[in-house]
Formats: sequence, structure tokens, C-alpha cells
Amino acid sequence: MTRASRTAVLVCQGRAAADGRLAPGRFADPTAAPLLRPDERAAVDQVRAGVAPQGWRPRVDYETVRASAEVVAPRTVAVDDAVRDRSHPQVVILGAGLDGRAWRMPELAGAAVFEVDHPASQQDKRERAGALFGPPPHYVPVDFRRDRLGEALAGAGHRADVPSTWIWEGVVPYLTRTQVAATVAAVAACSAAGSRLVVNYQTPAVTTVLGRVAARLLSAGAGRSSVWADEPWRSTWRPAAMAGLLARHGFTVGHDEHLLDTAGRLGTPIRHARSLRHGRVTVADRR
Ligand SMILES: C[S@@+](CC[C@H](N)C(=O)[O-])C[C@H]1O[C@@H](n2cnc3c(N)ncnc32)[C@H](O)[C@@H]1O
Repeated sequence: MTRASRTAVLVCQGRAAADGRLAPGRFADPTAAPLLRPDERAAVDQVRAGVAPQGWRPRVDYETVRASAEVVAPRTVAVDDAVRDRSHPQVVILGAGLDGRAWRMPELAGAAVFEVDHPASQQDKRERAGALFGPPPHYVPVDFRRDRLGEALAGAGHRADVPSTWIWEGVVPYLTRTQVAATVAAVAACSAAGSRLVVNYQTPAVTTVLGRVAARLLSAGAGRSSVWADEPWRSTWRPAAMAGLLARHGFTVGHDEHLLDTAGRLGTPIRHARSLRHGRVTVADRR
């Protein structure tokens, strides 16, 4: 990845499309739409209106954003619930993309929020967010493939002797197993006892509906690359393997659920049952 993440835009579009429509009362993200550029909002508006557009390109965008909304809404709720459940003075969002939590969640108002992301994605976020929502989080540019997370965070004022809540949502699939393990080790090294790590990861599947919808429709047309072209999936994890990795670094898994269960509880659409079943959120606490 050398330029700003396109998958970060897609999940932000999903949150904007879901805002006020999916799981009302449990999910809302008024920060999502303002973070999008006008051309990125077109498909969001169509999904919100529930009218599929004519023509293959607009239809691809529509289907992709609708699928994103249906996966991202339960995912967001699962992560938010884990964050609310244990309040810490520091919150670190790893691979933050266009996540608006720093401004969206009132529970984070008193916390020091650190947003860690690939430098290109973070620059894009900073340009989009500007002074839109108020005080910015601490921005910490880090490429998980080569940079030292602990040093970068310490340089931004993060304290390893104070408990943190770590949010790692929608990032693990884009890293190799070695990079995931190295990042967990780095997180553990700056996690005081009681810290919480919330990880969203994917379990092995032949493919996902989200990817299939886009791939099928894209193949019908020409000259357009998929949002995943620059961001291929590099690792999937079975729950036992993820729990084992976390345990080796002092984190005990207290809860691990697939998003199909979360969506079922919330009553959100399950058109993409396979994508939901293979997306999981695990919550682990540091001894
Ligand atoms: C699908 S987006 C998820 C963004 C955000 N967590 C969310 O759920 O809205 C993937 C994020 O992972 C980040 N990412 C992928 N590879 C990375 C790397 N090697 N180093 C740092 N960040 C990376 C991207 O920059 C992007 O922000």
C-alpha cells in the first residue's frame, strides 16, 4: 500500500449509508458522511434512498456500499460495546482510516485518543477531517510492516504504564500473519495491566459475499479496479489461533463473536450471511 486506503473510504461509506437506517438506537455515525468527498457520497445517497441506479458503474458502487453498510453496522456496534464496557484513560485506534470514534463516542471525551495509521491514509484523513468536528486525536503515522509502533506512540505521548483500550478494526486481513503477530507483541509491550484489546479479524473462507458482489459486477465492465486491488487480504485466523496469539502476549479472550450473531441480535439485514459469519470481533484483557 503506497497511497491512501480505498477500503477505509468504503467502510466509511458503509457507516454513512447505515447511519439512522440500520439498528437505530444502537448504531449511528453522523461523522461518516462529512468525511466523504462529494463523488463518494453519491452511492451513499442512493443506498439511503433505496433506489438501485441504472448503468453498471453506479450499480457496482451501489451494491458495494450497501453490502459494506450491512457488515460494518454490526461490526461497529460490537466494537463500541467493548469500548464502553471498560473505560480507560487512553484509547489507541490502530489502522484508524476514516473512523470517527474520536469525535462520535461521548465515552471517549475524557480519554487521550491516539489514531495510528499508514502515513498516506492518515494524511488523507487529516485533509478530510480538518477542523470539522473539534479537537483532533493524536495522529501517529505508522506502517505496521516496518515502523516501531511503541516508539511512535511514546513520541506522541502515549504511556505504557497507564491502561489503554486498543481498537483494531478492519486491519488484520491486510497484514501477513507475521505482521499481525509483531503488532500484537508491540501492543502488549505498551499495555499496562487491565488494558483491553478489541480485534476484528476474518476467519478463513473461499471468498466473501462482499468481495464476490464487487468482483462479479466489476467483471461485467472494464477499466475500473476493485477497491481491493491495492489492499489484498493477507491473513485470516481461526478463533483458537487468534486467542492463542493473544494469550502468548498476556491477553485473555473474554468474548469472541461472529458478526452474524451480532447482526441477528440487532435485527440488521443478513443478505451477506457469509461475510458476516466470517467476520469476528474478539475482546481480550491484559492480565
Ligand atoms: C478497511 S480500512 C479500516 C479503517 C478503520 N479501522 C475502520 O474500520 O473504519 C483498513 C485500514 O488499515 C490501514 N492499514 C492497512 N495496512 C496498513 C499498514 N501496513 N500499516 C498501517 N495501516 C495499515 C489502512 O491505512 C486503513 O486505514
